[in-house]
Amino acid sequence: MCASSALSQPRLSSPEQPETSVSVRRAVPGDLDAMVALEEAAFDADRITRRSFRNLIGSSSALILVAEAGETGGAILGYAALLFRRGTGLARLYSLAVAKASAGRGVGRRLLKACEAAAFDRDRILLRLEVREDNVRAIQLYRSEGYRPIGRYLDYYADHMPALRFEKTLRGDKPFDTGVPYYEQTTDFTCGSCCLMMAMARDVPGFRLDPVMEIRLWREATTVFMMSGPGGCDPHGLAVTAHEFGLDAEIHVSQPGDLFLEGVRSAEKQKVMALAQEDFRRRAADYGIPIVIEPFSLDLLRAHIATGGTAIVLVSGYHMFSKKVPHWVLVHGDDGRHVILHDPWVADERGETIADAAHLPLPYGTFDKMARFGKSGLRAAVFLSPRRS
Ligand SMILES: CC(C)(COP(=O)(O)OP(=O)(O)OC[C@H]1O[C@@H](n2cnc3c(N)ncnc32)[C@H](O)[C@@H]1OP(=O)(O)O)[C@@H](O)C(=O)NCCC(=O)NCCS
Repeated sequence: MCASSALSQPRLSSPEQPETSVSVRRAVPGDLDAMVALEEAAFDADRITRRSFRNLIGSSSALILVAEAGETGGAILGYAALLFRRGTGLARLYSLAVAKASAGRGVGRRLLKACEAAAFDRDRILLRLEVREDNVRAIQLYRSEGYRPIGRYLDYYADHMPALRFEKTLRGDKPFDTGVPYYEQTTDFTCGSCCLMMAMARDVPGFRLDPVMEIRLWREATTVFMMSGPGGCDPHGLAVTAHEFGLDAEIHVSQPGDLFLEGVRSAEKQKVMALAQEDFRRRAADYGIPIVIEPFSLDLLRAHIATGGTAIVLVSGYHMFSKKVPHWVLVHGDDGRHVILHDPWVADERGETIADAAHLPLPYGTFDKMARFGKSGLRAAVFLSPRRS
């Protein structure tokens, strides 16, 4: 919500003086008076009522944090309210306000970061918020913390002011590096080959990542057609290509036979796809590549990653970028609570950068839901390891 207008609070003359001792904790009912006072001072309209604050404090789908001076028991300097929608990877910053006397001293930033940490801790992968278009100060804070604009709601506030929408991918504060380099796909259809390239760049000596190789590997592993336009890669094709380029591969697929045919209307195209896939299956058998026809479990995937391997996993594009297309990502790490993946697709149209797609920590449960495609819930992965011999 975040309804305050822009310039109601002048910047303090000494913004460089941080509020030295500030602690952040979860709000309790005893903070209600202070929060209501902050709300009245910060917002001219669309205020959160005492009753709503009380409900939010008691709700399991919300979290209110307060910043106080000193260690504990000091004056309340600001608050932030977060909402968690059940069954999604989203958290929403519902409100943020800092007392005028403490403005410009880092309290707002501190609360924002505490919200991000709390949301990440609750297995959220995105934090979203709305802010009045004329709230220069808050917008500046969000931009400087890496929030990207994702839209605009017209006539959002009581005075008809539009809201800008922002979001940030939450990554926690622990950097994670398995030595697998990141490569961004340069076409709409080469996610599979890009995943393979990233795995090979670490595990095949002398392998080079470049767009020529991206297209070459795609030509080796494509189903030819898929949905509309050029086809994406098939798990058997990826495994055969990985094998030929020097990696050990193992195929896990929840159903036997041809894949992805239901998205293609033309019988002619279906026939070509089926022939290409038959070829992959025959070659996989010739190479002795293990094929496990059952949905792989998260535990199995984690056990493979623990051996130092990587896995190209099919996910529904619906979860990643709201498109019902099959999409491949490369899982290469595990921090005990998240799988760490490289998503070769950087959604420029959503203002994403490589930082939003590389070394992405996804909570186990979220990833488990994402790793299936289509009505039949197709589950497919190619487990890759450095060549043993
Ligand atoms: C927006 C708000 C929460 C910021 O809190 P704050 O404690 O003053 O902010 P911080 O001191 O942490 O400053 C963080 C950043 O905000 C921006 N900022 C702060 N004061 C600013 C000002 N007067 N003008 C422009 N930008 C300003 C700066 O980017 C600043 O970073 P910097 O100091 O490194 O340059 C606070 O001003 C507030 O409560 N405003 C009224 C309520 C509101 O608008 N809430 C947000 C609704 S979405």
